[in-house]
Amino acid sequence: SPRVFSGIQPSGDLHLGNYLGAIRRFVPLQDTHETIYCVVDMHAITVWQEPEALRRATREVAAAFIAAGVDPKRSIVFNQSQVVQHAELAWVFNCVARMGWMARMTQFKDKAGKNSENVSLGLFAYPSLMAADILLYKATHVPVGDDQKQHLELTRDIAAKFNNDYAASIAAEGVGAPDGQFFPITEPLIAGPATRIMSLRDGTKKMSKSDPSEQSRISLLDDADAIAKKIKKATTDPAELPLEVDGLKDRPEADNLVGIYAALSDKTEADVLAEFGGQGWGKFKPALADLAVAVLAPMAGEMQRLLDDPETIDAVLRDGGERAGAIAEKTMAEVRSIIGFIR
Ligand code: TYM
Repeated sequence: SPRVFSGIQPSGDLHLGNYLGAIRRFVPLQDTHETIYCVVDMHAITVWQEPEALRRATREVAAAFIAAGVDPKRSIVFNQSQVVQHAELAWVFNCVARMGWMARMTQFKDKAGKNSENVSLGLFAYPSLMAADILLYKATHVPVGDDQKQHLELTRDIAAKFNNDYAASIAAEGVGAPDGQFFPITEPLIAGPATRIMSLRDGTKKMSKSDPSEQSRISLLDDADAIAKKIKKATTDPAELPLEVDGLKDRPEADNLVGIYAALSDKTEADVLAEFGGQGWGKFKPALADLAVAVLAPMAGEMQRLLDDPETIDAVLRDGGERAGAIAEKTMAEVRSIIGFIR
């Protein structure tokens, strides 16, 4: 049966890119798939996190899931570290993946910069923990933003190499799927107008948690006033909005704002241009600000309300952790016997 898994790091301010590229898309998948949504706290500590800030950020991601419409009864919502099998399978994958595969990861190269001797070993091995997250649940589909594409290709490579290396043992143990595979070859779900939301200050840079400028991103906890101000101040070129989607080419700021409008209203960019094409920013920006406030401000309020009661969030995560753990242990027990570990 089709099963969705996705994860978000609790490593700073959640922003509009995380919402439109991932969290918003988690909600409708609950109608068609079994859905598992994870706060990946073990990924977060690949770079230093203050313990109290990590606890807060973990609850913030869980609150964002719920405020956006993820129902913790229909979906499994949990934080990664509660299910120890993630670490166990990641170790196995460290022994399946090759150094060369990891060394090609552009996100590692970006994050490590010139100082790669001095980043954590965990940051280098990060994609193998991500593959473990997904494959522990034999997830078939993973909704993410465009920046995770390369990590998902690596997940497919790891699954295929494991299936191949251990093919004989998988058959002998009788634990393969009807096609003989043990791990599925996961499909990324990267679609829609918001797979890569850009900074509001610079249309060539991705909107990110780590940009030093607060003006570059809309935080999911921003109030109505802050949301509207940031949109009205967003950098744009002076030209009017084009009539056709083609006209957004080579206009990264315009493309970004039209994409945000489309995603927030569940329309296509063509629909948005049918309404606003030929008009200036003085018309479009206030309309976008109103739309963003209408969608995001109530969500921020709901997140705040949930965060005022951390025990309830922790109980949701604990319950999700137990349900996730039951699935994870079943896979892990099979993996141990496939490999030849004695219990
Ligand atoms: P993270 O925490 O950096 O981002 C969470 C999700 O938000 C998406 N995203 C964006 N989408 C559009 N525009 C942007 N500017 C933007 N910035 C971020 C990301 O693509 C992601 O979907 N490695 C993952 C977390 C992870 C994971 C997993 C994801 C760990 N294990 C298993 C899927 C499955 C990450 O760092 O996401």
